[in-house]
Amino acid sequence: MRRAVCPGSFDPVTLGHLDIISRASALYDEVIVAVGMNASKNRMFTLEERIAMLQEATTQYGNVSVDSFDGLIVDFCKAHSIQVIVKGLRAISDFDYELQMAQMNHGLAGIETLFMTTNPLYSFLSSSLVKEVATYGGDVSGLVPEAAGRRLIERVKTPQN
Ligand code: PNS
Repeated sequence: MRRAVCPGSFDPVTLGHLDIISRASALYDEVIVAVGMNASKNRMFTLEERIAMLQEATTQYGNVSVDSFDGLIVDFCKAHSIQVIVKGLRAISDFDYELQMAQMNHGLAGIETLFMTTNPLYSFLSSSLVKEVATYGGDVSGLVPEAAGRRLIERVKTPQN
């Protein structure tokens, strides 16, 4: 069984994330999308909301499931018998940090990282920019899955904190 993980914050999931998840699902028997809990970052959505948005966006993929993790991604991989981390690379600016993480993860636990080049349609896309666009009333359709877009608009209208 070839099992891969797509880790991230997904605050919220974007169409760029979904593109990588769907392409990973075609390569591996099972793909687990793992939402990092990392409390240090300021989030717009709770962990439960981020998981729900991912579940809503990935129902069409029979071999994709959504989970969360705290701590090191390699420990999550070991606990779930995952051999590969799949990451999307948008631009050379992503590469520096991703390379360091991939080498650290390989050094720590022998876990491989597969980098997929992002679909050029989404190379400018990030969760942070999507939140900024939504916050100032911009159109986020075409940037995030439909259900996530509805939640974004709702959250901007009634912020939680
Ligand atoms: O969507 P993000 O914020 O780029 O996701 C980053 C994430 C959560 C995938 C990454 O920070 C991570 O794997 N964090 C867990 C801690 C860890 O294992 N770090 C790598 C060792 S250097």
